[in-house]
Amino acid sequence: MCGITGYIGKKGNAIKTVMDGLVALEYRGYDSAGICYKDKDKLITIKEQGKIANLKSKLDFNVKSNLAIGHTRWATHGEPSKVNSHPHSSNKFTIVHNGIIENYMELKEELLKNGYSFKSTTDTEIAVAYIDYIYKKEKDILKTLNKVTNIFRGSYALGIICEDDLDSLYALRKTSPLIIARGKDENYIASDVPAILKYTNKYILLDDYEIAKITYQNIEIYDKDLNLINKDTLEFEGTYESSIKGGFEHFMLKEINEEPTVFENTINNYIDENFKNIPDLSKYKNIHIVACGSAYHVGLIGKHLIEKFAKIPVYVEIASEYRYKYNFYDKDTLVILVSQSGETADTLACLRLVKEKGIDTLSIVNVVGSSIARESKYVMYTKAGCEIAVATTKAYLSQLTVFAVITMYLTNKILKTEIEKIPSLLKNIINEDYKYLAEQIHNNKNIFFIGRGIDYYLCMEGSLKLKEISYINSVAYQAGELKHGTISLIDKETPVIAISTDKDLREKTISNIKEVKARGAKVIFITNEDIDGDFYDYKIIIPKLNEILQPILVIPTLQLLAYEVAKLNNCDIDKPRNLAKSVTVE
Ligand code: M6R
Repeated sequence: MCGITGYIGKKGNAIKTVMDGLVALEYRGYDSAGICYKDKDKLITIKEQGKIANLKSKLDFNVKSNLAIGHTRWATHGEPSKVNSHPHSSNKFTIVHNGIIENYMELKEELLKNGYSFKSTTDTEIAVAYIDYIYKKEKDILKTLNKVTNIFRGSYALGIICEDDLDSLYALRKTSPLIIARGKDENYIASDVPAILKYTNKYILLDDYEIAKITYQNIEIYDKDLNLINKDTLEFEGTYESSIKGGFEHFMLKEINEEPTVFENTINNYIDENFKNIPDLSKYKNIHIVACGSAYHVGLIGKHLIEKFAKIPVYVEIASEYRYKYNFYDKDTLVILVSQSGETADTLACLRLVKEKGIDTLSIVNVVGSSIARESKYVMYTKAGCEIAVATTKAYLSQLTVFAVITMYLTNKILKTEIEKIPSLLKNIINEDYKYLAEQIHNNKNIFFIGRGIDYYLCMEGSLKLKEISYINSVAYQAGELKHGTISLIDKETPVIAISTDKDLREKTISNIKEVKARGAKVIFITNEDIDGDFYDYKIIIPKLNEILQPILVIPTLQLLAYEVAKLNNCDIDKPRNLAKSVTVE
């Protein structure tokens, strides 16, 4: 999704700092970029469609500037184009904006009646004009910004420059994340921590309706009643190095290679000789799990494990559905929200909805201090570190780990010996060569994943991973369901990736694999037992573990297979088209 960076300082390197920040946020996905900087007493805005490199080629990095805001845009209102890119200006104001101003049409009408005209089709141009419109009446920047927070509906994080105060940078937020970072004689704004890590790891989280007035020396934060407030300065645990590729060809590959450590860090946070840092979950009689994308797939595995081993009924739903349907709660319900970013708009909306009903919430979140983490009653952090590739890998594995922990906690049994084996088993699995398998399938237009039970849920994630980074259409199916329609798509050489780790369902799954094999499918069989037979073309054997931990060993294979296919097809692996890392709009 869109990225914001901003800088105010004495060194005169505002353009470079803001551009470094935008480069660090590239992973969030974007289709155009722009910057506004102060050159002596003038503001200069330069924008370009496409990659940040296009924008960079238009900039003079020798210009000494003390103030700048930058933006990478992921189109929501209006096509990706230079005119729609940010920053947008209106008279004295220039802004960059993440999120959506939902009532922008209403505001536009009012502005048109008052003599404003517009070049772009964005809600952001309306927002900046509206700020200017209010400022003409208020004649005070803080009062103006405070007033618009009561008028703008939707979600927004704004970086703002006003020509009447070029010694300050302003920022405000509602729902979309924004941080204010501290340096020495320089301060920053950013929509995500990696943007500032090259310069500082100290930052303040801006909360909804708060406004920041930032000079090179001071950061002032005002609450919704315009009272000056004190906020804690946080320190990001990771390093700049952790947010760069470190010798790997892609962030995705680097992050898969971090999985053994991520597993250890996550498990060690909750288990030593005993369980620790876990809220009392045993008191709940029913559980809802709500999430999007891969986090939803983890939720399905969580459901399978909790129901099978702890015998607690679990209902799982995609957040964008859950928030608009009737849900059944009672006083014994726990709602678990799963999110890597902790900022996914639909998941956050569900959390708020559930809280309003007085239901207890637990979030499983990676980004420390993110909105979902802060607003939940309980939080269990996944210790995946900074995940940059759009396709989640290590964060997914860390979420699987937390659900394994929850299942062990609810059944009061620590699978200590197996846990100890996992890091080295993961290393071996990750070091296998998946390229030869990718070569068998990368030219196909349709690929199927089949499995039963927990293996089907793994198929869903394997299929999503392949789709999102290789652009090959793939579908995950419950192995027993194919014959009710989908099997008509199976043709000679159609790749079918069949997963079977659940011993109890193995015979049934193998029968289904035989059905597709009989119709000419090219079968890649992923299993945890060395089974011979003529029902597959290729076989991958994953070391066998207790079912609670088994998915942790299956997933790297699916991630690496997708990675190798995407690589063979020359896809933009870390930044797949049309996708964003953190989906902060509905
Ligand atoms: O940050 P979240 O975990 O809430 O994000 C949820 C999904 O957007 C995310 O898992 C998405 O499906 C990934 N791109 C999948 O790789």
